[in-house]
Amino acid sequence: MSLIRELEFKELGDDRGNLVAIEANKTIPFPIKRVYYIYGSSPEVERGFHAHKTLQQIAVSVAGSCTMLLDDGHKKEEVLMDSPNKGTLIEPLVWHEMRDFTEDCVLLVLASDHYDESDYIRDYDDFLKQVSQ
Ligand code: TYD
Repeated sequence: MSLIRELEFKELGDDRGNLVAIEANKTIPFPIKRVYYIYGSSPEVERGFHAHKTLQQIAVSVAGSCTMLLDDGHKKEEVLMDSPNKGTLIEPLVWHEMRDFTEDCVLLVLASDHYDESDYIRDYDDFLKQVSQ
């Protein structure tokens, strides 16, 4: 089974432009407790390099594009995020890395919980130990 789970959001567009609405527990499968966004990362920047113990997230490239590597400790897959109407699910215990940011990339992330550093696994060997338990 692929690690990549993309959600396609309905585009409510007309001749004035596009609109996407994302509703917690409806459009996406969890309550949203936090929203953050990453912007101003240049193409040589690599970010992420962690997994979460319990947090669920959905990342949407609302402008520009970047790629995300997803790794469950057994396989690695890459997804190009280049569409403001598609979200990529980042499940708990999935190591993720983001790269290839275009200068105009704005990566919006919807998270199921508040920021909590103790939910992060930032060491790759620790991550491998946790997923092999
Ligand atoms: P970091 O986890 O390094 O970002 P990335 O995963 O994109 O590489 O986060 C950068 C800084 O921002 C770090 O000091 C933690 C802080 N931070 C918050 O305070 N709240 C948040 O919701 C997030 C995601 C990060």
